[in-house]
Amino acid sequence: MRHLLSIAAMSALLASCTAPEAPFDEAAAIQRGQGIAKATFEQMFARVKAQMEAVGPTGAVEYCSVAALPLVDSLSAVQGVHIKRTSDRLRAPHDAPDADERRRLDQVLAMLAEGAKPTDIPPQALVLGDSIAFYQPILINMPNCLKCHGTPGLEVDSATMAILARKYPNDAATGYAVGDFRGLWSMRWKR
Ligand code: HEC
Repeated sequence: MRHLLSIAAMSALLASCTAPEAPFDEAAAIQRGQGIAKATFEQMFARVKAQMEAVGPTGAVEYCSVAALPLVDSLSAVQGVHIKRTSDRLRAPHDAPDADERRRLDQVLAMLAEGAKPTDIPPQALVLGDSIAFYQPILINMPNCLKCHGTPGLEVDSATMAILARKYPNDAATGYAVGDFRGLWSMRWKR
């Protein structure tokens, strides 16, 4: 009996250690992800635009990247938010989707195949183990994007194509038009 009691006491203790966390607030997670995506895009595109104006697209190729973006580094260090972009038509191999990102990409591609407009695809937040995952579509939202993601020879000039071919030998991220689905923001943070 004493033995049984101690087991009961121990399981009560364990249960209190693994008590369920606060309920998942999906709307708050979506709002947080959207705010970060907007701020990250603004910081990134300000750099792309400045380089395009100063040097042209060949000088801006380094800048359409979340790598080495001060905001991304500080969000990661201060808030523990991991920020990434991914796509079904990759340019940078380091943007390749993991299994969960692949699942969301496939869902979005299925919605588009069924006739949904890219602007209709909602953001998504979900619990993933001890973290929250957030996904939001990225669209080709301005003609400027086409300087590096449009049709080679038409919108992407030959000097830019040469740099892209050298840096990204398996580049699949040209041939887009304004309004197209380009990929996903993908974020993770601890619950
Ligand atoms: C000056 C050239 C340039 C412009 C302009 C540009 N991009 Fe990019 N884009 C790139 C390069 C280069 C990469 C790969 C970056 C890396 O190595 O991290 C990339 C990567 C991406 C990715 C990540 C997925 C992948 O395939 O690696 C997305 C999403 C993306 N671009 C969207 C856009 C959108 C939307 C615009 C317009 C707002 C835009 N880009 C404008 C050159 C450009």
